[in-house]
Amino acid sequence: MTPANPAMRRFGTIGQPVSRLDGPLKVAGAARFAAEVRPERLAYAAIVPAAVAKGHVIAIDAADARATRGVIAIMTHENAPRMGRPPRFIEDPDGTAFDSSPVMQDNRVRWNGQAVAVVIAENQDIAEHAASLVRVSYSPEAAKLSFQALLLSARRPASILGQPTEVNAGGDAEQALASARFTVDEIYTTPRYNHNAIELHALTAVWEAEDRLTLHDSTQMLALTVSTLARVLDLPKDHIRVLSPFVGGGFGGKGFFSHTLLAIAAAKLAGRPVRLVLSREGVFRLIGGRANSRQRVALGARSDGTLTALIHTGATGVMTGTIFPEQFTFPARHLYAADSLHLDQAIVELDIPANIAMRAPGESIGSFALESALDELAAKLDLDPVELRRRNEPQKDPTDGRAFSTRNIVEAYRRGAERFGWSNRNPAPGTQRDGEWSIGQGVATAYYPYYRFPGSAARIRITADGRAVVQAAAHEMGMGTATVQSQHAAQLLGLPLDRVTFEYGDTALPPSALAGGSTQTASIAGAVIAAHERLVEELLRLAGNDSPLAGAGPKEVETRNGGLFRKGDQEIGESYETILRRAGRDHAECEAVGTPPAEMMNYSMLSLGAQFCEVRVNDITGEVRVARWLGSFDTGRILNPKTAASQFRGGIIMGIGMALTEETLFDERSGRIMNPSLAEYHLPVHLDVPQIDVIWTDIPDPQSPAGVHGIGEIGITGCAGAIANAIYNATGTRIRELPITPDKVLAFTSQPYGQSRPLSS
Ligand code: MOS
Repeated sequence: MTPANPAMRRFGTIGQPVSRLDGPLKVAGAARFAAEVRPERLAYAAIVPAAVAKGHVIAIDAADARATRGVIAIMTHENAPRMGRPPRFIEDPDGTAFDSSPVMQDNRVRWNGQAVAVVIAENQDIAEHAASLVRVSYSPEAAKLSFQALLLSARRPASILGQPTEVNAGGDAEQALASARFTVDEIYTTPRYNHNAIELHALTAVWEAEDRLTLHDSTQMLALTVSTLARVLDLPKDHIRVLSPFVGGGFGGKGFFSHTLLAIAAAKLAGRPVRLVLSREGVFRLIGGRANSRQRVALGARSDGTLTALIHTGATGVMTGTIFPEQFTFPARHLYAADSLHLDQAIVELDIPANIAMRAPGESIGSFALESALDELAAKLDLDPVELRRRNEPQKDPTDGRAFSTRNIVEAYRRGAERFGWSNRNPAPGTQRDGEWSIGQGVATAYYPYYRFPGSAARIRITADGRAVVQAAAHEMGMGTATVQSQHAAQLLGLPLDRVTFEYGDTALPPSALAGGSTQTASIAGAVIAAHERLVEELLRLAGNDSPLAGAGPKEVETRNGGLFRKGDQEIGESYETILRRAGRDHAECEAVGTPPAEMMNYSMLSLGAQFCEVRVNDITGEVRVARWLGSFDTGRILNPKTAASQFRGGIIMGIGMALTEETLFDERSGRIMNPSLAEYHLPVHLDVPQIDVIWTDIPDPQSPAGVHGIGEIGITGCAGAIANAIYNATGTRIRELPITPDKVLAFTSQPYGQSRPLSS
């Protein structure tokens, strides 16, 4: 097999722990985020949220707000500029909306918290105060708000991210389960969660002319924002420019939502640039989050642990008429070699905000259920859970039979177990004690698919002073894009890192696919490789007949040491400067689109990992403390160990929150979110997070550009399973309901039901 990009193996900074190139700007406060752009005559917006879940607005009394000094305008459905419906993500190639409802175009209320008015004022304080004075009356209608009560109405969506909703393989799984020697058949539930990036959602919208818009946005989807806005506003795409050089965390939540259109419409109405920064409460009310789920996992096994049946089914709660079912059955499609598979998903439609992509949507909650069930089976078999997974390691993709491009999860488990000291663990539950604390260790598999999106472009310019500028409308949300893409380009061009500048975060640059689905590194690397190939041809053409390279074809030369050289010959070649100066040029420039992602069709490609953790459970308070963590990943080539370690760690921290403390609470009578703040929605803080050790196999995938797999989302997967499994090892109690809060720990440990037993001491 030929690596897609052999140049990545050459000497350079690839694989080196280069510090973030954007770090100094951020530390100095010189990185300008979307809410820090300050155009002339800037006005400020604040939102009035609906107080009912469903119905109509019948009157808006804004007299007091309007009379407030400093208020410029009040926008409602009655005076908002006319805008079309946003096209939807996945369904429409131009779309990026999860909810295609019109924004402020009619008097309908679709969820509790939807914006019903926007106050535009001379400063933020006035806008917020005036918003509090707006009185709205409603004609409410009965709303669908109870997931539990509506489960019987669950229906099957047409597809799951374009994949079949139902998968059956290897015969009747229910029958295989019924006749299996060892079985697990349990229900696992996960709550609604919300994104809480530290940077609040922010936009500064500037109408440069009646039909020309500049948007400073905090977004992970530049190109799709332009194509969506072009449709909604009925403008040519090249009349819309979106800039997003810095994003303070995204996790799937930074993109096009109703707030985007509210800011743009407010700027139009006021005839002034408008800044809209959502409050933390606004983020909860307007920006979807992760759907809740109820999942069944049933496993049938022989006494050696090999699976005869794997069943994973269930339902998620989504907004009525939306399209994002959360792919919780995806891990089970690709992880284990079971004789028979039955996987199926349904949705329950509710009148709540549309759920949207949230770090490993589906995979994170699906892996909790699946990996908990595997652990339950290991306990019944009296088999080590790592060994159980090894015995079910497939040779080819269990669902579609494709070959794996590379798959080293067994090796990742082996290294992880060694580093963690897994063999020291006592598999008998409730045996490790320290005063009032029960101690236990757990393990689970981390899983996220490999994707690369088509259509990403890049431009490379080489100048006669031996420097390069690489341009792509990429997204830097803090994960290290600017740094690793610079490293990759420098390596390809044979230039030191400090001679390469990477320009990104602006739709005026060559378009990139979104930063989502853990795809950006491979997508942009593929575009840079394509642009580099063009550049080699162009340099060879410019070198001409007077060059020592005369007569060589593009396949016979390579870029290294600041120039173009014959492959395999250190001597024959010349520098970029020499080539350009002789040709009388001050630069050479090429732009290209990456090759279509054929590797995704031809191979089963996965990011994988093994999550090991140790927990301490307090007998008296029911408090769970994560004491130790080791993540061992198999995610292709690691371009930068420093930024990669942060990606893995960040995912694991988010997984700890998902497992133990985070939960968006809806009042089922009103559909109103009850805890829209960081005071009442507890994200992990330093005290909640132990030292997190991460290691990786660093085995390049020959099918992927630069040998990489995505690493943005996999960190969160497997975490909740590993924690629940460790709690079982500590206490003998199985908790199948996230988050695992102290009340649940106490309720389950204080009375023997299900598999629970009272603590022995
Ligand atoms: Mo991710 S949830 O695709 O940013």
